[in-house]
Amino acid sequence: MRVLVTGGAGFLGSHLAERLLADGHEVVALDNLITGDRANLASFAANPRFTFVEANLIEELPVDGPLDQIYHLASPASPIDYVELPFETLYVGSDGTRRVLERAVDDGARVMLASTSEVYGDPLVHPQVEDYWGNVNPIGPRSVYDEAKRFAEALSMAFARYRGCEVRIARIFNTYGPRMRTNDGRVIPAFVSQALAGHPLTVFGAGSQTRSFCFVSDLVEGFVRLMESDLEHPCNLGNPVEQTIRTLAEHVNRLTNNAGGVVYRPLPEDDPTRRRPDIRRANEVLGWKPMVAFEDGLAQTIEWFRTQA
Ligand SMILES: NC(=O)c1ccc[n+]([C@@H]2O[C@H](COP(=O)([O-])OP(=O)(O)OC[C@H]3O[C@@H](n4cnc5c(N)ncnc54)[C@H](O)[C@@H]3O)[C@@H](O)[C@H]2O)c1
Repeated sequence: MRVLVTGGAGFLGSHLAERLLADGHEVVALDNLITGDRANLASFAANPRFTFVEANLIEELPVDGPLDQIYHLASPASPIDYVELPFETLYVGSDGTRRVLERAVDDGARVMLASTSEVYGDPLVHPQVEDYWGNVNPIGPRSVYDEAKRFAEALSMAFARYRGCEVRIARIFNTYGPRMRTNDGRVIPAFVSQALAGHPLTVFGAGSQTRSFCFVSDLVEGFVRLMESDLEHPCNLGNPVEQTIRTLAEHVNRLTNNAGGVVYRPLPEDDPTRRRPDIRRANEVLGWKPMVAFEDGLAQTIEWFRTQA
């Protein structure tokens, strides 16, 4: 098949492109490199079945020839990025998503939208099931991202209902692994780079807020299964093993032999207190569940960050 990955030079997009090439597909990665990096493509850029297109999806989708599938991942994704790029985030979620869906209708392609657990906001239901509608502040600093993704979901469902487009919606929970940027503001790269420098790890609040972390290869497997499935409703993809940020800091310090300890700083506004996916739908419909143990995934991630130092 001929598959387009928007945001293909990003963290998740590059792992997905690599997996699709390994599965024998022809892959086009489109990216404007606003938060992505060509270096993420290095291990497969020479593959004759791979093409890279540098373009801003808000303005154009300059890919010739028919597409069978589109994985739509283009969007600033970490809190540091989307607070710095509010309009780019809102417009790629709206105009960019519309462009992808129109193209899918034209080509008869199936689309998988990379949505997010942020559609649940600061959730009042725990763990989060797909039928929960969320608790999102529509005007807070994170709203540019949360509402862009909620709009992208609404637009995708409208294209499915009224334009006959085949749409799959992945609600992705925190994912980690090699190719994350050290300075993207997400907690694992932040902790690992502080630890490798021998510094104390910065914990926001008391560190009692919880997160669940999915290793990137598990997530990519979920993407592929979701795309191939008949599931017409959103599907959570994430690791349900929940841990506190304080525990995470202890893991990182232990695996890196960092004696720097931790320091505590005030919690940012709108920071969700708890996050854990209910993955029964993914498990029952896709036969999917995360397979990589946290310590193994963290060790691989630390090794990768060491090579970047
Ligand atoms: N990593 C996670 O834990 C996570 C969690 C939830 C959702 N997601 C979603 O998954 C997707 C990928 O996230 P990621 O972690 O790989 O982030 P990333 O920043 O590494 O990748 C996003 C890519 O999209 C590209 N991009 C942004 N705007 C674009 C535009 N207008 N035109 C073309 N390319 C554009 C960026 O340059 C980047 O390469 C995003 O949609 C994100 O919202 C990720």
